[in-house]
Amino acid sequence: MNNVLVISGHPNLSESNTNQVILNTLETELAGVEIRALDSLYPDYNIDIEAEQTALLNADIVVLQFPFYWYSVPALLKKWIDDVFSYGFAYGSEGNKLQNKDFILSLTIGGPEEAYSPLGYNHFPIAQLLQPLEQTAYLAGMKFHKPVYSHGMVYIPGVYNELEEVQAKAKAHGIQLKDKIASLTTIDESYVESFVRKWFVAFDKMPEDSQQFTQHLATDVTWSMPEGDFKGHHGFVEWYNIALKQFKPNCDHQIQAISVQQHDKSFIVDLTVNLTAETYPESDFNGQPINIVAKETWHMSISPQGRLLIDNYQVALAE
Ligand SMILES: Cc1cc2nc3c(=O)[nH]c(=O)nc-3n(C[C@H](O)[C@H](O)[C@H](O)COP(=O)(O)O)c2cc1C
Repeated sequence: MNNVLVISGHPNLSESNTNQVILNTLETELAGVEIRALDSLYPDYNIDIEAEQTALLNADIVVLQFPFYWYSVPALLKKWIDDVFSYGFAYGSEGNKLQNKDFILSLTIGGPEEAYSPLGYNHFPIAQLLQPLEQTAYLAGMKFHKPVYSHGMVYIPGVYNELEEVQAKAKAHGIQLKDKIASLTTIDESYVESFVRKWFVAFDKMPEDSQQFTQHLATDVTWSMPEGDFKGHHGFVEWYNIALKQFKPNCDHQIQAISVQQHDKSFIVDLTVNLTAETYPESDFNGQPINIVAKETWHMSISPQGRLLIDNYQVALAE
């Protein structure tokens, strides 16, 4: 299981040229990442400590994304740390709630690389300036990873840099961060099982937008259902549109049995699922509620980019 939580510490993301690009890149490249933008959640700097601690408890990998301000984090992110990394939570005899979580600092820096050296005007290397945050992670028992940062990220029209230039660097930064997160993510049987459970939670809402499902499908996926066989993303969308006309939102897939077997970089999932749902009057079920048990087999594999994808999905009604 690897839940990724990104805390955006930018005090005004709507005016950001680079942090916003990094966050957008992460959101498109990394399925299921939770991004908490502190400036929109807490414009008054009044942090909801319980909500933030809950988000942290659910996370395996924690990323702090911020612009470097006065050789440190912006005040909003500093307040978040002060409030949320509290005694009994992050430190103290029982403060072990963050232990063993992966911790990545990801920052944009205005000054050029050469300025952060003994003879440069900023004198100290970035790694040294980040040591208070590194020690914060150690005290909380977190795994501190080499930070991801980019220099020359300030854009002042006609004075510093070009917009396209800093945005291209931000995009590359986002990809580098995504690769770093992916390298910490182990896709094993328990990851696959939790993926399957999250799939059903998402599916039961019957969202109009099928993209949240297609992003987890191989381009040549085979979708074998009692209604027939469907091929590729187009095929899935065709089938999903049929399902949308049958089942009302908030159906319920209860997993009665699940087994996941790993073979190198692929997985076979065998499932027994009990589906209860309300149906539409004009559907094949004439508006009658359904309660069926299905046997499912999913074939999944890890793509060269390190993503878990469904290659083959078979459903048959149980006898
Ligand atoms: C209040 C403030 C303090 C800053 N302090 C530093 C600093 O200490 N070192 C530095 O290299 N850049 C500094 N900068 C430049 C920012 O790091 C840069 O503008 C930011 O990374 C760009 O991110 P954005 O496009 O997402 O706003 C500072 C900028 C502001 C507004």
